[in-house]
Amino acid sequence: MIGANPLDRRTAILGAAGLIGVAATAGLLTPAAPVPPIAPYGLRCHAARRGMSFGCEITSAQVAAGGAAMAAVVAEADMVVPSVEMKWGVTEQVEGRPDYSVAETVAAFAKAHGLRLRGHAGFWYLNLPNWARPELAGPGAEALILARVTDVVGHFKGRVFEWDVVNEAIEPRDNQAGALRLAPFGRPVGAGYIADCFHAAHDADPAAWLFYNDFGVEYDTELEDQRRAGVIGLLRELKRHRAPVHGLGLQSHIGVGRRFNAAKYRAFLAEVAALGLKIRITEFDVADNMAPADIASRDAAVANEARRFLDTAFDERAVEGLLCWGLSDRDSWLRQQHPVRVPADRYPERPLPLDDELRRKPLWQAIATAFDAAPSR
Ligand code: XIL
Repeated sequence: MIGANPLDRRTAILGAAGLIGVAATAGLLTPAAPVPPIAPYGLRCHAARRGMSFGCEITSAQVAAGGAAMAAVVAEADMVVPSVEMKWGVTEQVEGRPDYSVAETVAAFAKAHGLRLRGHAGFWYLNLPNWARPELAGPGAEALILARVTDVVGHFKGRVFEWDVVNEAIEPRDNQAGALRLAPFGRPVGAGYIADCFHAAHDADPAAWLFYNDFGVEYDTELEDQRRAGVIGLLRELKRHRAPVHGLGLQSHIGVGRRFNAAKYRAFLAEVAALGLKIRITEFDVADNMAPADIASRDAAVANEARRFLDTAFDERAVEGLLCWGLSDRDSWLRQQHPVRVPADRYPERPLPLDDELRRKPLWQAIATAFDAAPSR
């Protein structure tokens, strides 16, 4: 029943008032469309009961389109993260002329609805401005990166709850000391620049929580063993440099049909927690391209995969919460990715908690149940 619970009441109020607020901020002259009914007791409520958080990735285009998809975000999430809008290749297309207007659309949505904002990402080897590429291959790389981190974190000072300061700096297949990624430098640069990025971010916004974020550390393969070791090694190195690193973001793009070793994953999380770091699952989705074709079996396989992963992850009290990379299947990045990576895949992927019509799926239930089963923080 809507209204019986204070959290549900908040949902209804924010849904009605807040969506209109964003339309007004965007300067739209047409009256705001009626707000569709908001489903009660979202994932954020299941998370909040355990002292945890639930959020999702959104885009500026989704914010501009508004409607039921954004009402669902407000119902389900307490935190949002922009997809590409804060990435360097978007914010500084012209050298020396940073333009945060697209990112501001997402920030305004978060503010209008009382959602925490994650910053993503200070430095990443992908989505770079074209003009920066040659400079990153030369001796001025570090100064350039530090200036970018200082600028973006400073721009959003006081508004971003938590930053992915550096994203995906580990790549064991590059065979470098510390498993550090060669791109975008094309030469070994060491971990010192990463420590400096954290110092720069801290100077630019001393109140923000600062995270290192990476992928491919969930499963039981030799490569993922190497990645886990690389990530732990980097975190230790950052601590040695007295870098203000507060947490590890685990992207957790998981998938059906892969080998998960709960004991190994548990030990990895415990090792991170023992360094005094927070942990957040930051980009969760469950690829179903290896699952059976019929939708009921696929959705069940996705939900099962999520449960075995999340039950293990949430057992670790340092894990503060979960963000999905998108909320509804219709917006999943995997629909663009996997037809390329897996040519045999001929059906639209269903990796997120809501289906194309924004209905809650078995994956939604699996996430809710995993929160319910988690020890309180
Ligand atoms: C993805 C976006 O979702 C896509 O729209 C974009 O084309 C590429 O980047 N790991 C990350 C995210 O840290 O920034 C990526 O986001 C997905 C993988």
